[in-house]
Amino acid sequence: PYDHYRDLRNTDPVQEHPMGFWFVTRHADVSAILRDNRLSVADRNLADGPMREQYQHLIADQEVKLTSMIDSDPPDHTRLRALVGKVFTARAIAGLESMVTKLVDDSLDRIADAGSANLIDAFAFPLPFAVIGKMLGMPDSDPTRLRELVETLIMSLEPVTDPEVMKAIAQCEVELCGMVKEIITWKRNNPADDLMTGLIQAEENGDLLSDDELVAQILLLYMAGHHTTVNLIGNGMAALLRHPDQLALLRSNPDLVGNAIEEFLRYDSPIHQTRRITLTPYNIGGIEIPVGTMIIGCIGSANRDERMFGPDTDVLRIDRELARQHLSFSAGVHYCLGSALARLEGRVAFNRLVARFPKMALSGPVRWNGRMNLRGAADVPVTV
Ligand code: HEM
Repeated sequence: PYDHYRDLRNTDPVQEHPMGFWFVTRHADVSAILRDNRLSVADRNLADGPMREQYQHLIADQEVKLTSMIDSDPPDHTRLRALVGKVFTARAIAGLESMVTKLVDDSLDRIADAGSANLIDAFAFPLPFAVIGKMLGMPDSDPTRLRELVETLIMSLEPVTDPEVMKAIAQCEVELCGMVKEIITWKRNNPADDLMTGLIQAEENGDLLSDDELVAQILLLYMAGHHTTVNLIGNGMAALLRHPDQLALLRSNPDLVGNAIEEFLRYDSPIHQTRRITLTPYNIGGIEIPVGTMIIGCIGSANRDERMFGPDTDVLRIDRELARQHLSFSAGVHYCLGSALARLEGRVAFNRLVARFPKMALSGPVRWNGRMNLRGAADVPVTV
């Protein structure tokens, strides 16, 4: 997509789409809309029109209302984020390093035995699911159905026009909520030192959190950190293996890993787009956008903007000074709550993988998953 993004940045940086939304591609503009509290994240604020129709399945007539913080504006957002922030602390995350290292090393043992692997299936995919499952304190029961439902629900992050798919997404939400409710009931009877128990206790202690909101925050935590982190690890691995000079640089300078993670996030963002909705007429790049309109901030393009990163923006450089200026974790009040966890998982994954397999190399072409928003590597075949 990057050539297309560059054309848009240069010729039409605030572009109106025939469906009625606006697509913003420059770093300065994307950063501005993400930080602007006059814009909403709630789809119900869309004016009547094709976009509202497209999002209808997420807005109206539902048995369940998924009121998670990521779809709420202040003051609800402030309240929900503070409540979850009480249990999802930097200290809780820092304490996870040994658990993450063990999970990573177990996967690497299996890859070493086999001698080759698809790094997505064997490594990038299972890790974030296992980590968040343990943090939340999910039951040990078979997670297959839960994962299938999550796979369907994330389709709502891609452009959906097929009414059958919309129906499937809406049905899937109902089933997922039912499942999470059952898990919460089980957890009430089996409290432990985990995030879900912390949130349940907050609710029981009279903190302002309704039953539906509890379900929505747990589901958000379970989902928000999965495909995103898979893409950080998978896209980062793909980028590194396609740039043997950068792989060699990381091997000889393991301390670069922190900056390398930022560069992977910049170079192939795990999420390409996020949206905001205008509540008043909104001026951007000299264009006035009417009330009730969706503006899509293209993070994937902002991260490659020459105006921010310089002329070599399309080059992977794990020691790039400005790498941290990427917008992959968003900005402003919705800045990713799980960024420290994602960075920890990334750091351990890259450190251990690079150290363990000095001869690792691609054994075939990298294949992409075909998604526009959660764009990620689907196959990264290697021999070790
Ligand atoms: C919000 C990206 C990992 C939990 C966000 C947003 C982005 C993002 C772009 C904000 C969307 C917006 O402003 O509209 C990522 C990326 C990740 C990652 C790229 C991995 C590389 C995680 C993890 C968790 C998590 C591991 C936790 C388990 C959340 C939550 C929010 C959020 C709870 C909502 C914050 C709010 O609305 O205040 N993430 N995320 N994320 N993320 Fe992440």
